[in-house]
Amino acid sequence: MPTILVTGAQGQVGRELQLLAEEFPDWDWHFRSREELDLTERNALDDFFAAYEPDYCLNCAAYTAVDLAEEQPERAFAVNVLGVRSLAEACAEHHCFLIHLSTDYVYHGSQTAPFRETDPTHPRGVYARTKLEGEQMALQVNRHTMVIRTSWLYAPFGKNFVRTMLRMAAEGKSLRVVDDQIGSPTYALDLARLMLTVVERIDRDEIHYRDCCGVFNYSNAGATTWYGFAEAIFALRQVQPELKPIPTSEYPTPAERPPNSLLDKSKITALLGLEIPDWKESLAHCLQRIGDIG
Ligand SMILES: NC(=O)c1ccc[n+]([C@@H]2O[C@H](COP(=O)([O-])OP(=O)(O)OC[C@H]3O[C@@H](n4cnc5c(N)ncnc54)[C@H](OP(=O)(O)O)[C@@H]3O)[C@@H](O)[C@H]2O)c1
Repeated sequence: MPTILVTGAQGQVGRELQLLAEEFPDWDWHFRSREELDLTERNALDDFFAAYEPDYCLNCAAYTAVDLAEEQPERAFAVNVLGVRSLAEACAEHHCFLIHLSTDYVYHGSQTAPFRETDPTHPRGVYARTKLEGEQMALQVNRHTMVIRTSWLYAPFGKNFVRTMLRMAAEGKSLRVVDDQIGSPTYALDLARLMLTVVERIDRDEIHYRDCCGVFNYSNAGATTWYGFAEAIFALRQVQPELKPIPTSEYPTPAERPPNSLLDKSKITALLGLEIPDWKESLAHCLQRIGDIG
C-alpha cells in the first residue's frame, strides 16, 4: 500500500484530501501543515523523506496571497519556487511521484478559447510568475512530476469566493462583481478526488506513471464569469442581495487577473477516462456542506 505525503494539509485542497483519506484506510497517510513541514526548511524535508520514504507526494502547499505577493515577492519566491525545488529534489532522491498544483494564471493570454497545456505562458504579477517558475523547477528536478494547473478554487472552508459572497450577503452588503473575466470554478473536493484517482490508478498499474508526468489542466466543467458564479451561489442559497455586474476596470487589484481562465481538460480526461463534474452541481454540493457546517 502506498505511503502518501500531503504538504500544505491545512489548505483548501489539503483539508479535502484529509476527508477523502477515510476512503483509503489501507494507505499510509502523512498529512503535514506548514507548521509541521515547511517547504522552505530543507533539513525538515530531508528528515521526513528519510524517515517515511513516501511513494507519492501531493503538494498542496503554496504561497497563495495573490495581491500581497506584489509587496512580498521574496516570500512568494521562497515558497513557490525555492520550496518547491527542495520538495522536488527530495522526491527525486527518494523516487517519489510528485503531484504539484499550479494555476491558470500562468497562461494569461489574449485568446478566448480554453487554454491547452501547450499554449504559451504569459504570467503577470509576482504570484503567477512564481507559480510558473515553481512548476518548471519541479518538472526539471524530478522527472516523475505531474503538474495540475487549476482555476477559481473553492471549498466549504478557507478563503474563497463562495464564502466571501455568503459572508457579505449575510452582512447585508450590496455587491459589485466582475462580469468580464471568464473561467470555471473548481471545487477543491473534485480536485482532491482527481489527485487520488491518479495515485490509485498508478498504484494499481492501471496507468503508467510516465503517462502522468508533465503539465495537465483541471477545473470543473462549464464556464461562467465571477458575476455568474455569484448569481448561482445566491440562487442556490435562495438569498437575494443587491448584486451588480461591473467591468474589471471598476475593480482594480494590485495583481492583474487574467480575462480568460478557461482550461481545456481533454488531456486529463483522455488519461483517466473521466467525466468532469459540472461546476454548478459541485457548487450545490459545497453549499450543502456549508449549510451542514452552519
Ligand atoms: N485558491 C485558488 O483559487 C487557486 C487557483 C488556482 C490554483 N491554485 C493553487 O492550488 C494549490 C492549492 O490552493 P489552495 O487554495 O488549497 O491553497 P491554500 O488554501 O492557501 O493552502 C495553501 C497551504 O499551504 C500552506 N503553506 C504556505 N507556505 C508554506 C510552506 N512554506 N510550507 C508548507 N506549507 C505552506 C499554507 O499554510 P498557512 O495558511 O499556514 O500559510 C496553506 O495551508 C496552490 O498551489 C495554489 O497556488 C489555487
